[in-house]
Amino acid sequence: MWRGLPGYGRSRRLPPGSLSLLPFDYLMDPFFFSKQIERHGWVFKMNQFGFGAGPNPFRGFLQPVCCVDMKRGIKILSDHDERLIPPVIPSSRFIPKKYLREMKREDHSHYRQIFSSAFKREVIDESAEFMTRHFRTSLLQLADQSSSNGSRGVAPENFLLATTFGVFVRCFFGIFPDDERFGLLEKLSAVIDLTNRDDREVSVALDEFAGILRQEAHRVGASNHNPTSSFLSEIARAEPAAFDDLTAIRNFIYIMTASWIDTSGLITWLFKELSEHPDWTTRLPGDIQLKATDGAEPLSVRCVRETLRLRQSEYLYRRVLADLPVEDFVIPKGWLLRVCIRESHRDPRVFDTPNEFNPDRFLARSYPRAEYSTFGASRISCLGEHLTLTLGQIFVEQFALNIETSTREDGPLEYRKWHWKPSSKWRVHVSRRDRQQVAMK
Ligand code: HEM
Repeated sequence: MWRGLPGYGRSRRLPPGSLSLLPFDYLMDPFFFSKQIERHGWVFKMNQFGFGAGPNPFRGFLQPVCCVDMKRGIKILSDHDERLIPPVIPSSRFIPKKYLREMKREDHSHYRQIFSSAFKREVIDESAEFMTRHFRTSLLQLADQSSSNGSRGVAPENFLLATTFGVFVRCFFGIFPDDERFGLLEKLSAVIDLTNRDDREVSVALDEFAGILRQEAHRVGASNHNPTSSFLSEIARAEPAAFDDLTAIRNFIYIMTASWIDTSGLITWLFKELSEHPDWTTRLPGDIQLKATDGAEPLSVRCVRETLRLRQSEYLYRRVLADLPVEDFVIPKGWLLRVCIRESHRDPRVFDTPNEFNPDRFLARSYPRAEYSTFGASRISCLGEHLTLTLGQIFVEQFALNIETSTREDGPLEYRKWHWKPSSKWRVHVSRRDRQQVAMK
């Protein structure tokens, strides 16, 4: 009870906030952090379960955390980079020099360079035609599934996870869903999931996965024709030795699977926001035809930015390696630092009516990085911004052009696999949209 008092540790310059030994609230209340900010201000302490990025009650014991807003957070990350490391992710145990973000500085700059050169705009833009076809076909399939299901509706989350996988395998490896290896890649990706504790099974699956990629890199390298461009073909061209380097190839695999899961979370939220805001969805077909010429971002991209703001971008985590001063406070060595992205993105001093879905807020003004930052803001910032925005934009457009939805059942948000997600009870009726009506609008 004593440690749970907000003033505990004041003499040691710990920030306010409760180090309660039963900190369950943050796992049950999506607005837990906002409520703490209202009570204690933008620097406060709390306990979470486990030491990983994102609270996880199944990993480790109680862990004290200092939470800060985005503006302070970005400054701390830049001023004190040498005292902070990203928390360990379980897949790192299978990689000799670790997962990219956890590598030593020299290794990090070497491998980051390989991937940032491979994740090219041109590759993504070339994949756009496939993405359009793939999302359109998948959404129409979902509509057909829904109509054969009667009035019960369908659960979109797992369907969208599988659909997004097709886009990732195309962009990363140049392999299409009708390729015979596609099904095997799906199975292997499920086996190497972060939650699998059978190390032998994961290692065998990683070797098999790497074998497919090596073979594909060899085929691409030996081909006389222009191969399908992909991140793999870029690495095969510029850095062929990477396919014999376990650190490079396993990072490539894990970057694909981790970013696929994150992005499919975004796609699920886009589906939900568009379903719940028909006023915006009906504006989209007109905007798509218009193809803005005034330099403004299309409405579809603004929908993606707004969904990232409200839903998919939640936090940055770092482990504190040496005592860290934050204004009048000190964050002790061994604590975690949590930069509260989701809460900063709902700060009423920056965003008018912050909890409202309003993509046009990005027309009214632009937001500097310290106010709106969904892809990180440090040495390890995201390498997938263009891919995320492109596939998000295409998904929004294909949703608006091809389907209509109505919610059949829903429930409170749930904290699952490191993020707040729509309720597992969520069911939607999906129908094909009348294309003629869309054209007339
Ligand atoms: C919803 C989509 C995505 C979001 C919100 C997102 C967000 C982020 C954020 C916030 C970071 C920085 C983490 C930190 O500072 O602790 C990050 C890093 C990273 N992201 Fe993304 N990301 C997304 C999709 C992608 C995609 C599609 C790719 C791959 C093409 C990707 C590749 C990476 C990599 C490789 C890093 C680590 C870079 C490094 O260690 O140097 N991300 N991402």
